[in-house]
Amino acid sequence: MNSIKNIDSFGHVRGESLFVDDIIVQQNTLCGLVYDSPKAHGIIKNLDLSKAAAIEGVIKIFTYKDIPGENQIGGIIPDEPLLAENEAHFVGQPIALIVATSDSIAKKARALIEIKIEELPIITGAKEAASKKQFINTPRTFSLGNTDNAFIECDYVFEDEVFTNGQEHLYLETQGAYAVPMENGSIKVTSSTQGPTQVQKGIAKILGIGMHRIEVDVIRLGGGFGGKEDQATPWAALTALATYLLKKPVKLILNRHDDLRMTGKRHPYESNFKIGLTKELKIIAFEADFYQNSGAAADLSPAVAERTLFHATNSYFVKNVKTTVYSCKTNLPPNTAFRGFGGPQGMFVIEAAIAKAASEIGVTTTQIQETNLIQENDELAYGQLMTQTEAINSWQSAFKKFNYKKLATEIEVFNTKNKNFKKGISVMPICFGISFTNTPMNHARALVHVYQDGTVGVSTGAVEMGQSVNTKMLQIAAQTFAIQPDKIKLETTNTTRVANTSPTAASSTADLNGKALLKACSAILERLKTVAAQELKVRQEEVSLQNEWIYVNSKKSSLSWKELVANAMLARVALSEKSHYATPKIHFDKTKEKGHPFAYHVYGTAIITTTVDCTRGTYIFDSIKIIHDYGKSMNKGIDLGQVEGALAQGIGWMTMEEIAYDKKGNLLSNALSTYKIPDIFSIAENIEVIPLETEGNEMAILKSKAVGEPPLMYGIGAYFAIQNAIKAYNPSYKLKFHAPMTPEKVLMSLYQK
Ligand code: MTE
Ligand code: HPA
Ligand code: MOS
Repeated sequence: MNSIKNIDSFGHVRGESLFVDDIIVQQNTLCGLVYDSPKAHGIIKNLDLSKAAAIEGVIKIFTYKDIPGENQIGGIIPDEPLLAENEAHFVGQPIALIVATSDSIAKKARALIEIKIEELPIITGAKEAASKKQFINTPRTFSLGNTDNAFIECDYVFEDEVFTNGQEHLYLETQGAYAVPMENGSIKVTSSTQGPTQVQKGIAKILGIGMHRIEVDVIRLGGGFGGKEDQATPWAALTALATYLLKKPVKLILNRHDDLRMTGKRHPYESNFKIGLTKELKIIAFEADFYQNSGAAADLSPAVAERTLFHATNSYFVKNVKTTVYSCKTNLPPNTAFRGFGGPQGMFVIEAAIAKAASEIGVTTTQIQETNLIQENDELAYGQLMTQTEAINSWQSAFKKFNYKKLATEIEVFNTKNKNFKKGISVMPICFGISFTNTPMNHARALVHVYQDGTVGVSTGAVEMGQSVNTKMLQIAAQTFAIQPDKIKLETTNTTRVANTSPTAASSTADLNGKALLKACSAILERLKTVAAQELKVRQEEVSLQNEWIYVNSKKSSLSWKELVANAMLARVALSEKSHYATPKIHFDKTKEKGHPFAYHVYGTAIITTTVDCTRGTYIFDSIKIIHDYGKSMNKGIDLGQVEGALAQGIGWMTMEEIAYDKKGNLLSNALSTYKIPDIFSIAENIEVIPLETEGNEMAILKSKAVGEPPLMYGIGAYFAIQNAIKAYNPSYKLKFHAPMTPEKVLMSLYQK
């Protein structure tokens, strides 16, 4: 059943798929619009809503004073009000909610709101915040061995600074929610969220009522990429607040400008590293300090910071490690989850350190990379013993399958022959841990109904956001019951059917929900087999199902799936099942910063080649060749789509997407004319992705490893490929680690003295 197609493809292409804004609304549905802070930091001295409220069609303007429960939406740390009270902390911070009969009336009203803010000092940079001791929480440090002693023994020691910029999620569907009043003070909210339970919990807190009164339904997302893991909550909470108080349905969809200004992005990081090697190129000591630009509130920053530390040595084993991360409080929108969740920021730093060391020592980067790859039973800084490692396997497979030597030689030859164009090559290995780093989040549930006509309804906690998790769920049910996919319906993700869910995140959704679903389907299947065995007068072990038919000892019987289900119904056998799955074996002790936090790791190696136009500073990627560790992919088409999509997003982050705020905390890259994301021409025509040959991993669903985030980090190779081309043109270029490597920066580097 490997070729099952994405079940959303027809609906998407025809424009029939439903998103929040496509729901047929109830009569008298009102429109919500957020009024946000025009200043990055200050005391709100006066807020005058009178002119705005006087417009005909404005029903009500809500402020924090109207909140019946707690004005608090902080998930990890309670440091974020839903609506600002006396202080504003970033441009775009919600201050009031205008509810009107139409969007255009709400917009008119927004323009008439008057505010007086007494400005306070504004911080926009992470190290700037650190120098003023502005932190979200206390720093975290992971360590292994003793770096101080190890550096003394090193033949080479290098230090430098690194910067990686933020990244805008740019999901096609902006943030939004639709709330409808139900009976007895209950509310139903349709939300574009990765975390339905997060939204349910958030609303209950804001309204000061029980979670049981709130039903959250998610049809699907037009992309999330982490941006809707926690940051879908405020918009849903605002609609729920208005609905609760007005007893009217309220819809709130951010327009693109509001979304860009009000929401957080990938965290920019300013970092320092110190790397020490022996003359055999073994890295024996590595230190890094990561200054994370968290924005004005914690949001998911502490969890993102933690994942940076988990990935600070990427695919390499280093005996002595000390890494510290500081979550720095600035006056930007709270930064949040973004594909890779802090991992990419960590991995870029060690790759920079290796590139620097190679350049200074006079060897190739690949020599250092290859010398230090993780091997079986290596113990990483956080205490996990690495087993079923594929770092060396994927590296060697890439070198062999793609003939690295030939590629590198061709590039050398090209560079000696060409003056105005230079080529560069890089190799990027990845090693990404699968599981929520916060152990208690690693669980899921599934609810399966087999209807009496033999069709099936499946509910899980998984949210479909383009990654095709619904197709994977459908495939599991179809495979287990041996029935056709069109007999199965994937239901919306709904908190009354599947409760207490973890968000769809950490690339773990298919593993967690898929394993729960497999359990539920298997339980029903066992009961059906009992009925079949009785009916056919055989032993249960002899019964199997194939193609909607019952087989006895591999011979087709006279009993069909449909009849079996009907008979089971008559025999009063339960045709529904709810199952729970929690990842076994994982644990982590935050007091010691040691444990076994990941179910397994995903590996792979990318080889990227680029040509730089040395007159213009522009570049193209000639080829991107990847050996990727899918385990045993359960759906090759979907998984390939995830690799290619993540790769494009990684290359975008590394080479062109440039978030810019001015010193006053205003977002300058506030439109698609000032923020460039990759398009079909930005990544190589010649992309080749070959599955690594492995046994797969039992902890992964059907041995098919998580695929959502890991391939983003292949994009890091793009930075170093370009850098190598620059070096070929300008031997006096001093390596700089300041991403993204935009054409502007390339041009400056080509002519740097
Ligand atoms: N793919 C698409 N098309 N759209 C998305 O929003 N999100 C990514 C990844 N792939 C995303 C995507 C992120 S950030 C994660 S964590 C995973 O999908 C989540 O889904 P999974 O756990 O089912 O892999
Ligand atoms: N990854 C993604 N999202 C998360 C995580 C994680 O490890 N922890 C909490 N939210
Ligand atoms: Mo993904 S950043 O874990 O939503």
